[in-house]
Amino acid sequence: TGLVTLDPGFVNTASCSSEITYIDGDAGILRYRGYPIEQLAERSTFIEVSYLLIYGELPNAAQLADFTSKIQRHTLLHEDLKRFFDGFPRDAHPMPVLSSAVSALSTFYPETLKPVTDDLTEIATVRLLAKLPTIAAYAYKKSVGQPFLYPDNSLGLVENFLRMTFGFPAEPYDVDPDLARALDLLFILHADHEQNCSTSTVRLVGSSEANLFASISAGINALFGPLHGGANSAVLEMLEGIRDSGGDVGSFVKKVKNKEDGVKLMGFGHRVYKNYDPRAAIIKKTADEILGKLGGDDSLLDIAKQLEEHALADDYFIQRKLYPNVDFYTGLIYRAMGFPTKFFTVLFALGRLPGWIAHWREMTHDPATKIGRPRQVYIGPAERDYVSMDNR
Ligand code: CMC
Repeated sequence: TGLVTLDPGFVNTASCSSEITYIDGDAGILRYRGYPIEQLAERSTFIEVSYLLIYGELPNAAQLADFTSKIQRHTLLHEDLKRFFDGFPRDAHPMPVLSSAVSALSTFYPETLKPVTDDLTEIATVRLLAKLPTIAAYAYKKSVGQPFLYPDNSLGLVENFLRMTFGFPAEPYDVDPDLARALDLLFILHADHEQNCSTSTVRLVGSSEANLFASISAGINALFGPLHGGANSAVLEMLEGIRDSGGDVGSFVKKVKNKEDGVKLMGFGHRVYKNYDPRAAIIKKTADEILGKLGGDDSLLDIAKQLEEHALADDYFIQRKLYPNVDFYTGLIYRAMGFPTKFFTVLFALGRLPGWIAHWREMTHDPATKIGRPRQVYIGPAERDYVSMDNR
């Protein structure tokens, strides 16, 4: 069987070659298809970035119009799929609702169970990009007991999502352009991050030739964990906890350093970035601005800034190269936008979707792809004889 190398957490093992995203964790550099994240954040849109990640190039005007209209035409959910939402408890966490509904898409589009062709991949791509915002909005509506809204396909993807989430059937809903632009920006910043836990999951599941819906559903479940996408909710809970116990940032940092009760500074640290996360830098810059406009809670932003200041000046964090990551400031912005804390990770999933799709497609086209099948180092008992029940 040859020599097997043990690498827990795949810290040093590349699982594939990829042309999609470049990260230099020491320098704090992130590029999608070669374009710096800072330029995309300032000048692009989420739909354009989705196209870039999936097809490899920025679209021209005709390509963008075609891609946008295809997505707009597929936003509706099958009426039977809508009934799924009735089966979940009222207070169901929206992440498992999201992954369940995406998993169920395989049953509504059974042609995707056949061997993959480019045409089937294309239509599954469009369906996912179009339907995930609708599914996410319905998960929210279900949790607050409000009626579902059909998509309004005269609106853009983000605007439509905001309307289906916060609007009411009989009332006009004016999308706040500042809010829509801020959410679009956050989606751009989350759109891909090479072989993170959920993307690796999408690739691993897809490597068995499981269809795109099944693979993305698995990715959503991986993202749910608090060390990954779930961190954005966990940060806000941490900030509220500090505020509610008197706002003493110093003693919280001390607790983290002493590893008391396994407390971590959520929103800090990253497997790859050993420098300031470039996404966090952009978000921090816009957090003040967005919170100012949307009327966010400044007391929590103050605590976040104090925490960052304390941590960046502290030997524990300096030695371990722990800096704020993408999740540190996002929760505050989502909260100001009106989303409940447990919905934050759903927003991460909406942003990450084009990246997952791009990786699944790259994998299925790569002739070097094999089914993912890691090896192990066996450390259990050596051979021994079966013991009969009365001798145990
Ligand atoms: N607070 C306190 N100590 C930390 C933190 C933290 N947030 N992160 C890492 N450390 C310590 C860790 O205890 C270890 O110390 P020691 O050497 O004394 O045992 C050292 O730093 C190295 O950490 P690690 O756990 O070996 O690093 P990792 O690469 O396995 O983990 C991480 C990366 C992101 C899971 C981790 O930093 C973490 O748990 N952060 C908090 C959760 C979080 O914010 N996650 C979001 C990540 S970014 C976006 C996303 O993927 O969703």
